[in-house]
Amino acid sequence: MKYLEVLPLHPRLPTTEAKSLLILGIETSCDETGVALYDNVLGLLGHKLHTQVAMHADYGGVVPELASRDHIRRVLPLTHELLAGTGKTLADLDALAYTQGPGLAGALLVGASIAHGLAYALEIPAIGIHHLEGHLLSPLLADPAPVFPFIALLVSGGHTQLMQVAGVGAYTLLGETVDDAAGEAFDKTAQLLGLGYPGGPNIAALADQGTAGRFKLPRPMLNSGNFNFSFSGLKTAVLTAVRGKTLTHQDKADLAAEFQAAAVDVLVAKSLAALEQTDLTQLVVAGGVGANRLLRERLTRQATQQGCRVFYPPLELCTDNGAMIALAGGLRLSTLPSELSGSHAFTVRPRWYLEELRPA
Ligand code: KG4
Ligand code: ZN
Repeated sequence: MKYLEVLPLHPRLPTTEAKSLLILGIETSCDETGVALYDNVLGLLGHKLHTQVAMHADYGGVVPELASRDHIRRVLPLTHELLAGTGKTLADLDALAYTQGPGLAGALLVGASIAHGLAYALEIPAIGIHHLEGHLLSPLLADPAPVFPFIALLVSGGHTQLMQVAGVGAYTLLGETVDDAAGEAFDKTAQLLGLGYPGGPNIAALADQGTAGRFKLPRPMLNSGNFNFSFSGLKTAVLTAVRGKTLTHQDKADLAAEFQAAAVDVLVAKSLAALEQTDLTQLVVAGGVGANRLLRERLTRQATQQGCRVFYPPLELCTDNGAMIALAGGLRLSTLPSELSGSHAFTVRPRWYLEELRPA
């Protein structure tokens, strides 16, 4: 097992004695503009989201330049709406948190430059957050929330990872996908079935009208004896099943149901095995695929049978959002005060692995 002690262990969340810090979080890594206000004593005060799904739908995927331009249009109006709705002003902010990476370079630059511009004008710090750390910590916004340590299943469009989480910044990678991410496989399979972007919710909706088992798809790496995943073979198996055939609506629904069942079987089996091997009893699920209803039902049922509990972020915070970035900023600033530096020189990290995080 690869141990990735990336930051000092800070297993305690801020308590009510902690100094109150009000953080504006800004997420612009891909196709959602998200802003949120998080108070590290009172919790999440509010969040606003603008999704670009309709804008990219015609192209079958995210067009980076369109994404960047739309973030520019949205961030400040959304921030004003958020502040007005929560009765706060920019002057009340103690810090800015923004997604520094990974993601689309141009899109990241929008959030980073607005965050640093505001922070410079307000004479407060701005902190760059790792997008996946945001996802990983987002179940802490659930009620009830998990307590450290726990296992995290991160399932997004770009990542599929099982992590052992001892505290903020203390992440051990147990396993990850060796090829496509789970969300990517949902998106590509949706394309093969002629469904629009984004694929995950469309496959899930079509699967509700179908029956798993009529078509037989593989469960890749189910018995690999480790915590790695592989989803590209599953997508290829769908390709083989559809190639050269005229599929009826029912055929497509049955294929969608079988694809979803296969992906969920593997995700559930490995997550439960990770709990068993580490003797931990809490599993948190984060990232867009965590919105999948079948995955949630199966994980909750089977984990409960194993004496474990599963935590999800509130459904609206499963996919990209500003709340998780504000939260991660709040946790980092309150546990790692050395990150409160006044510098406004910044870079974005389009490719950035959690393993590369270093102590502040
Ligand atoms: O975390 P996220 O919003 O963005 C990334 O950081 O990637 O995840 C987006 C991914 C997409 O691949 C989307 O198809 C998938 O999450 N997704 C779903 C569902 N909702 C979103 N996959 C399966 N079932 C869903 N209900
Ligand atoms: Zn994400």
